[in-house]
Amino acid sequence: MRKIISGFSKLSKEEKINWLIENYFHNQSETLKIITQYWNTDAALQQLHDDFIENTISNFYLPFGVAPNFVINNKAYVVPMVIEESSVVAAASLVAKFWSTRGGFKTTVIGTTKIGHVHFMYAGDETLLKEYFNKNKTELFLTTASITKNMEKRGGGILEIQLVDKTDTLSNYYQLEVTFETKDSMGANFINSCLEAIAKKFEKEDIEIVMSILSNYVPECLVSAEVSCKIEELGGKNPQKFAEKFYQAVKIAEIEPYRAVTHNKGIMNGIDAVVLATGNDFRAVEAGAHAYASRSGQYRSLSHCEIKDGIFRFWIEIPLALGTVGGLTALHPMAKLSLEMLQKPSAKSLMQIMAAAGLAQNFAALRALTTQGIQQGHMKMHLQNILHQFHLNDEEKEFLTTYFEKRTVTHAAVVEKINALRK
Ligand code: MEV
Repeated sequence: MRKIISGFSKLSKEEKINWLIENYFHNQSETLKIITQYWNTDAALQQLHDDFIENTISNFYLPFGVAPNFVINNKAYVVPMVIEESSVVAAASLVAKFWSTRGGFKTTVIGTTKIGHVHFMYAGDETLLKEYFNKNKTELFLTTASITKNMEKRGGGILEIQLVDKTDTLSNYYQLEVTFETKDSMGANFINSCLEAIAKKFEKEDIEIVMSILSNYVPECLVSAEVSCKIEELGGKNPQKFAEKFYQAVKIAEIEPYRAVTHNKGIMNGIDAVVLATGNDFRAVEAGAHAYASRSGQYRSLSHCEIKDGIFRFWIEIPLALGTVGGLTALHPMAKLSLEMLQKPSAKSLMQIMAAAGLAQNFAALRALTTQGIQQGHMKMHLQNILHQFHLNDEEKEFLTTYFEKRTVTHAAVVEKINALRK
């Protein structure tokens, strides 16, 4: 068994690294080199990143790309994307351009409210509980006054507090369900602080608070994005056939969970990349999106398609709890830069941009899947990545790219050809 350590968090960064390398790595100098080569030379900037989390020893880079030509509600955007997967940014850019000449993306914010709960146990008479709640409801609002003051100035705050009986699913289980408007902040800290204050006020000897926490299921914080055009405007050799096959692909994802998960994963390729670039919480967004995809009791596609009266229509509806103020959005220089690139959007605008990015990604994936397949494009990138690893010169790269144009790209086949070429 590896060494167990107490007081690790109190060690200096160097001491932490030394302990780690001594106990868990074989090539100590090489490991130290890798860890330290990602340190920023600007000490203040490095300190900023160190302080985001605990026990920071280095930075983990991800590529920051941009997808231009997104026209959303008649306004042009360049969308910042942070993602490690090749082809995603290229696909977003291509599809954004495609739809920019076909009316662009039309987006609508359907709702912005978020929910949190005080989960508690109560074994007594329900009527007395209701009476106690109704009598103290105003007090429950008032007890959060110091927390909600600033949020109220911005037009947000607590919208409603309700008592919910959940005893049919778990004995003695009740909730205070609290609805929030958090305007341009994601609001996690605000919501949790309010809930804890409410719980403290509400608690008494026969009410046992189990926990107070926001929900990442946000079906009321919802946005839709849509593209549409005449079928013949879809282009290609046979636009009617393309539209029909595309429609079938969406229908399959609506009824077949195995396909729906992959279909939605493709949507999240676009959304997560913008979530990361803007310093938002991708775990929250992922959890909420997939829960929403399951709201009927079966996991389904988040996007939908219709062909009617010669018009092709493709749209998405997705819950997105985002912030454009507070949290990392103000602290991380690259998140700040992303928001500036997006013309300092409100949380509502950012919801719409992300929904469009998700829909674009989904359109790109389905277009590729229902026509030439996705491997052709992926394998091109795969080949370039392998060529890059072997530090080939331009001439060698060109030769191998042409050679593999009509051949199957596997790592072994490429390496074999490189070796043959170098002999
Ligand atoms: C790959 O990251 C995403 C896709 O699998 C999405 C899809 O199948 O729709 C291409």
